Amino acid sequence: MNLLERAEEVRLQLKNDLAQVGSDLPSVENFRIKFLGKKGIIPALFSEFATLSNDAKRQFGKTLNELKNEAEHAVNSLQERLNKQETDSEFFDFTLPGKTPSLGHLHPVTQTLNRITDIFREIGFQIEYGPEVETDYHNFQALNIPENHPARDMQDTFYIDDSIVLRTHTSPIQVRTMLKSKPPIRILAPGRVYRNEAINARSYCLFHQIEGLYVDEHVTFAELKGTIEYFAKRFFGKNVIIRFRPSFFPFTEPSAEVDVSCYLCGAKGCRVCKHTGWLEIMGCGMVDPAVFAEVGIDPEKYTGYAFGMGADRIALQKYGIDDIRLFFDGDVRFLKQF
Ligand code: DAH
Repeated sequence: MNLLERAEEVRLQLKNDLAQVGSDLPSVENFRIKFLGKKGIIPALFSEFATLSNDAKRQFGKTLNELKNEAEHAVNSLQERLNKQETDSEFFDFTLPGKTPSLGHLHPVTQTLNRITDIFREIGFQIEYGPEVETDYHNFQALNIPENHPARDMQDTFYIDDSIVLRTHTSPIQVRTMLKSKPPIRILAPGRVYRNEAINARSYCLFHQIEGLYVDEHVTFAELKGTIEYFAKRFFGKNVIIRFRPSFFPFTEPSAEVDVSCYLCGAKGCRVCKHTGWLEIMGCGMVDPAVFAEVGIDPEKYTGYAFGMGADRIALQKYGIDDIRLFFDGDVRFLKQF
């Protein structure tokens, strides 16, 4: 075999080895040493070449140089591949199960508010909102609670100054709605309210109410009862019954408080209904003519009913929770359960 044929053979071997060389440093080094190392195959060919006559050198020189270039090129590209592998070498196992992103959810009180507003929305009530920082006028005076009236003692008020308060109930939204729109009016107004009460398991300085108001010609107390009964059956279950107890609110006349038969124990008596079989759910009544007069609605032509309920209390009953403070602590371990 002359040198040309041997060079061709080495070239094939180079190609063959290149296709099989591993992508780790020792394999690449072995490959380099085998072909280009001091005692490697290609330098050996060059030593032989050095002993040839000038004529023969002319004949084989080009081929040998090409072979050497090819081998160097192969080693370079292998080393490049190694370097690249090192920089983005963090091993990633694509077969690992994914991490499930944790989704939050609505607060139990918000869920309760939404369920209640949904029921009333379906029967034609529009949702209204009002400011939490409210004027004394909207929160009290326009609702037939003048200054120094004993009814102000029913609610412990946070005063910002003489004429501005944190609203103590959602009833001022009735006033704002009647001032800006004409009957027929049919609204539901959910929101936060504030009272300066001692904080304990039963009461907190803020809570949530839902106010209802319906004003039109010929609205009757019977309609109020029918609507509340419909709501109670939709919300608490179709087997509940309701009862109205006479009560007093300055902005309604007559006024009542509504109880629903305890849906937790089937009115047999349990811890939540304090063994009475009844749960108090709201105050209500026929809009007092004095309120109509204040907001410019003719009390001779129109009548209306109003009601207000505490959403936190209903959520406490529903979930069997006995401490309202849990709703406001923001403890995820508690909230996660709903
Ligand atoms: N605003 C009353 C309260 O906070 C609840 C209430 C009672 C609202 C009777 C009404 C109503 O609209 O007619 O205790």
